[in-house]
Amino acid sequence: MHYRQLGNTGLRVSLIGLGTVKLGRDQQVKYPRPFRIPDDREVLYLLDTARELGINLLDTAPAYGTSEARLGRLLQGRRADWLVCTKVGEVFEDGRSRYDFTPEHVHSSVRRSLERLQTDCLDIVLIHSDGHDLEILTRYGTLDALRSLQQAGLVRAVGISHKSAEGAALAIAAGCDVIMATLNLEEQAEAAVIARAGAAGCGVLIKKALGSGHAGPDSLRFVAAQPGVCSIIVGTIDPAHLRENVRVVDALAEHSQLPE
Ligand SMILES: NC(=O)c1ccc[n+]([C@@H]2O[C@H](COP(=O)([O-])OP(=O)(O)OC[C@H]3O[C@@H](n4cnc5c(N)ncnc54)[C@H](OP(=O)(O)O)[C@@H]3O)[C@@H](O)[C@H]2O)c1
Repeated sequence: MHYRQLGNTGLRVSLIGLGTVKLGRDQQVKYPRPFRIPDDREVLYLLDTARELGINLLDTAPAYGTSEARLGRLLQGRRADWLVCTKVGEVFEDGRSRYDFTPEHVHSSVRRSLERLQTDCLDIVLIHSDGHDLEILTRYGTLDALRSLQQAGLVRAVGISHKSAEGAALAIAAGCDVIMATLNLEEQAEAAVIARAGAAGCGVLIKKALGSGHAGPDSLRFVAAQPGVCSIIVGTIDPAHLRENVRVVDALAEHSQLPE
């Protein structure tokens, strides 16, 4: 496994991370095929496989149904093996998403994530954008609220999972430690801003590198070869797919086809 520094956070992340939407939510998702939420035994095997492959980063969110609470329970005694990224701002309840970017919500959401994940510090917390990136970053004091939790030692790195290149640029200018950007063969609008993030000390996580399952390994190869990418968060519940994805990226590393 290839590892990268996540901007200036001091965190060293595996080039492939594991996205955990499918551990806790099967409604209103955009995956091409229906799926069954895996049981605890299957999740433990998936996590063991990820660790064996050298993956050290898990991405979750309050919006991913039971994902946070399941991870908290299943990672008991092995929390130290993982860097955990979660989010604030979106809640998914009764089959619907609700958004709240107020500082009050940020504080209560982070405390709830700490409880659910059974930990005393969250490695990364990102604002879960609803698409209004610029408004979120300028209007509600959401990022400042995350910063205060960081200063209190409850969070190590903060940023935004944005939805537009303009949002990414503003997040970097606002001093976010980390952004979570969309990049795949079909969606390349953020490639330039991703390449610039590192110079500002901002780490970049990638979502939807496989187009949420609509793209194949060529898309993963493309993303891994882009400058500025620190970790590609692949959402899978299939250990064989996870192995295959790591193999694809390892092969690029072996042939020196990854940027420095
Ligand atoms: N706004 C946000 O913050 C946001 C939005 C979207 C996603 N995310 C994060 O980013 C992660 C990744 O995004 P994503 O899950 O939407 O998309 P993705 O990683 O591009 O694609 C995941 C889909 O691809 C399939 N897949 C993975 N590897 C495969 C392989 N080798 N062969 C065939 N199919 C494969 C998975 O199915 P199997 O389970 O069958 O492998 C799954 O349905 C999420 O889990 C989440 O953590 C964040």
